Amino acid sequence: MLLVTGVSGALGSLVADRLAGRPDVALGTRAGLPGTRRLDFDAPGTLPEAFAGVETLLLVSAGYGEDDTVVARHEAAISAAEAAGVRHVVYTSLSGDGDHLAYALAHRWTERRLRSSASVDWTILRNGLYAEFLTWIAAPDAENRITGPLGGGRLAAVARADLADIAVSVATAPAAHRNRVYELVGERALGGADLAEALGATYAPGTLADARAAIAASGAVPFQVPMLASTYSAIAHGFMDGTGVASDLRTLLGGREPLDALDVYVKAVREG
Ligand SMILES: NC(=O)c1ccc[n+]([C@@H]2O[C@H](COP(=O)([O-])OP(=O)(O)OC[C@H]3O[C@@H](n4cnc5c(N)ncnc54)[C@H](OP(=O)(O)O)[C@@H]3O)[C@@H](O)[C@H]2O)c1
Repeated sequence: MLLVTGVSGALGSLVADRLAGRPDVALGTRAGLPGTRRLDFDAPGTLPEAFAGVETLLLVSAGYGEDDTVVARHEAAISAAEAAGVRHVVYTSLSGDGDHLAYALAHRWTERRLRSSASVDWTILRNGLYAEFLTWIAAPDAENRITGPLGGGRLAAVARADLADIAVSVATAPAAHRNRVYELVGERALGGADLAEALGATYAPGTLADARAAIAASGAVPFQVPMLASTYSAIAHGFMDGTGVASDLRTLLGGREPLDALDVYVKAVREG
């Protein structure tokens, strides 16, 4: 039995769609929707029942929160998996080029925790930043200007759907991916000028200080301010453009072409 966590989320729901109807797959979510197992890493008491009979766990990172919150969630999930006799954990992590991002720490902690487990095999899917995520940080404003401070930097963005395809293919045949780390960054790096051109918008990047102040004033909770500011900074300063990353994306897609990140971004902006 494969159990997928977080199936109400954007990535988890794409994974769930791809696995629909399979009798050897269980779906888990905090909401406890019909046909799913209720599981909440913030309520570890829900986990023994949710993990019963599971051989492979696709652990979708529960990454919104301060480091101590996210680490505690992932510790609860992995401890419960060990206690339930889960044999293999597939974890959706963050690409290696993302180490300067404020939210990298909890991912790296989780990777270490899995590597040091005495009982579970693991596979780490180091997902690059989503093309869809660019709509959070580089959407055009009311005057059709993209002002996010990406500078002259670019992001090797990757479509969530491609990452869902890979998560499904790895989690349904995990033995071939035992104790492997995969880097899954996009093949086409996108900068602010590329995004603006595709939308017929103007690229007028502001400063990091302006962006930080605007994020704080937008009602963001405190951890989101460094999360987004560090994302701008890492992209602007050339850490996220895929240079020097040996991406496993195409190989794990079975050799097919990845979805075009610019098309995905444009579609996501137009759909709001
Ligand atoms: N690579 C990127 O660009 C990028 C961007 C944003 C986030 N991420 C990371 O990748 C993960 C999946 O991305 P996404 O786009 O699907 O994010 P999303 O739509 O916001 O989904 C958040 C996910 O976190 C799960 N979650 C939150 N708290 C949980 C808890 N206490 N116990 C169990 N599950 C919990 C949710 O599960 P439920 O079904 O239970 O609600 C859901 O699957 C995120 O959680 C985050 O760690 C990556």
